[in-house]
Amino acid sequence: MTAVDVVVMAAGKGTRMKSRTPKVLHKVGGRPMIQHVMDTAAVLQARRVIVITGHGAEGVEQYLKGAAEGAGRAAPDFVRQEPQLGTGHAVQQVVPVLPDDGIALILNGDVPLIRPQTLQALVDKCGGTRLALLTVDMADPTGYGRIVRSGEAVQAIVEHKDASHAQRAIKEVYTGFMAVPARKLKDWLARLKNDNAQGEYYLTDIVGFAAADGTEVVAAKAGEQVEVDGVNSPLQLADLERAFQRRQAVALMEAGVRLADPARFDLRGTLECGQDVEIDVNCLFEGQVALGDGVRIGANCVIANARIAAGAVIHPFTHIDGEKAGVEVGEGALIGPFARLRPGAKLGQEVHIGNFVEVKNSTLAKGAKANHLAYLGDATVGERVNYGAGSITANYDGANKHRTVIEADVHVGSNCVLVAPVTVAAGGTVGAGSVINKSTEAGALSVARARQASIPNWARPKKK
Ligand code: UD1
Ligand code: CA
Repeated sequence: MTAVDVVVMAAGKGTRMKSRTPKVLHKVGGRPMIQHVMDTAAVLQARRVIVITGHGAEGVEQYLKGAAEGAGRAAPDFVRQEPQLGTGHAVQQVVPVLPDDGIALILNGDVPLIRPQTLQALVDKCGGTRLALLTVDMADPTGYGRIVRSGEAVQAIVEHKDASHAQRAIKEVYTGFMAVPARKLKDWLARLKNDNAQGEYYLTDIVGFAAADGTEVVAAKAGEQVEVDGVNSPLQLADLERAFQRRQAVALMEAGVRLADPARFDLRGTLECGQDVEIDVNCLFEGQVALGDGVRIGANCVIANARIAAGAVIHPFTHIDGEKAGVEVGEGALIGPFARLRPGAKLGQEVHIGNFVEVKNSTLAKGAKANHLAYLGDATVGERVNYGAGSITANYDGANKHRTVIEADVHVGSNCVLVAPVTVAAGGTVGAGSVINKSTEAGALSVARARQASIPNWARPKKK
């Protein structure tokens, strides 16, 4: 087996993106396009990955170094192409760092949806001796390099701008992916000239050299068009995003997940699902999310970095973001509609969190409920606690955060302020409208508000 060295072309400008961000760092499914390409190279177990940078080189290199470190992988090698004189010129920059004995597999940093199996088939076609091109038939091939054959044998690639009328009628085009024996590639690259319509060094000219040298040129067809679609504009980026989301949705549905509408589903990260999970329309999942058996997610939820246990129901318009600390939702819990769970929210079995309730860095034990308009921050809440509408923990004194402990079976009335640090002991009751800044005793009723005064038969002021 010949080793595979991946070369990623990523020097282009991406003028039509009209963005300060280098094109290959624009995201598909929450990951920069070039990261998709790197992940695909990792699946292929490439010996080396060499990235050709140019426009925005520093940003791209910095991103890739950081990402490799984060994933515990070796960073790729970088070569710079400055200025950009064509795709052949780009690959010429790689020659000094590319080993002679391998297969060079050429990928594009702005073509993110190529599948590993398609590339593996291309590498197999090359087999260390042939020049293997990935091609596709296009209804409208305008702008692409045409595959010129004589009989079955590929003779050359002719760029659109250099093609004759007859050649422009060819529908089979080069996708930008090839697998080529490195030693031969280097020899051909040294022979490139730029005497063509664009005055560029065309990588595609090596096909003519190969044919002339008697090296067999073989073509493999891409599975689906989106695999080889590149991104040049925000519209093309959005189209690939939908294609990518469709792929993920189909994979989840094949595993039994019931999506109300695969066209209204977005996953920017990983989603693990148990059996009989149902997800309604317009939900967005980010980072790492796990849903247990029978979990139901209502419409219009945003859920990031969370584990939701079996049988829990997340009602519509709920926002959950565990960031680094994560969020845990216990078995059979009912969350929302319009709930907000923030980092460190750990909810036990059958906890209920209702509308306009925010929970941050707080633990709620089995059966605790906060059903309306409330805030729990830095709190430890015992079993079966009922936390009234409009109540909040005042956890921040302007400088430091403090904890509130609400022990089992406490009933906190409506519109209370629990000024931390404070403990409401087991079985206690807090009267509505109380400001509690001293810890209470187990079983006590605590009321901390002005007494009601009523003036009988009071005459309201009259307008003069
Ligand atoms: C190239 C092919 C064409 C093929 C098409 C598929 C050549 C000469 N033509 O077209 O046959 O149908 O891709 O999309 O190769 N790049 C550099 N440095 C450069 C020029 C380009 O790194 O100097 C990179 C770009 O960032 C991009 C890739 O190479 O990732 C392809 O460049 P692009 O201009 O999109 O392709 P074409 O040359 O139009
Ligand atoms: Ca070009």
